Amino acid sequence: MKIAPSLLSADFANLERDVRMVNGSEAAMLHLDVMDGVFVPNISFGFPVIQSIKDISEKPLDVHLMIVEPQKYVNQVRDCGAEYMNVHYEVCPHLHRVVQQIRAAGMKAAVTLNPATPVEVLRDIADELDMVLLMSVNPGFGGQSFIEHSVEKTRRLRKLLDETHSKAMIEIDGGVNLTTGKLLADAGADILVAGSFVFASPDPISTINQLSKL
Ligand code: DX5
Ligand code: ZN
Repeated sequence: MKIAPSLLSADFANLERDVRMVNGSEAAMLHLDVMDGVFVPNISFGFPVIQSIKDISEKPLDVHLMIVEPQKYVNQVRDCGAEYMNVHYEVCPHLHRVVQQIRAAGMKAAVTLNPATPVEVLRDIADELDMVLLMSVNPGFGGQSFIEHSVEKTRRLRKLLDETHSKAMIEIDGGVNLTTGKLLADAGADILVAGSFVFASPDPISTINQLSKL
């Protein structure tokens, strides 16, 4: 299983230390949560912070934008060194265009679905996506409880991607630990985001490595 530790639960007074910790782990990528206080009821960090992280991260950057009008920031996200630009379906009336813009800028395109958004909405665009991110909590905060229907939803997404011959990877975000991670692995997830479970653990490197064995 690929693991993407979410820096939202890191110690922001020691970001360099925590990014280097992730460098030294089995993590596949580093997950960065940008929040605007409009789409979600919280504000996290923005592009200048990611620019600095880019200089020290040895892992690919997975930028999860919980913001309205993400299409305005495609070039800024690219300049931050993002490998994946994740935009929410719920804020993109012209999703196909945004996906094309992300790819034209040289990034991999990922679309995120809130817990109440069905996977079916992606059927007509599935084969143009590099990744689909399912939220297994309502976006905005770390440390929330896993929403159980996400396991069945992961299975439904796997089926949809197979039916549409899409090569998109399935990423799940929110409430991931060793128990929920195992259920998600069995349901067909490719990448698990983990914030508080990693950063609140006594030995984050070993926690990442345990998750990656799922
Ligand atoms: C929530 C963020 C997540 C968050 C997950 O809106 O998208 O990436 O960091 O945190 P945990 O793993 O603690 O649920
Ligand atoms: Zn996230």
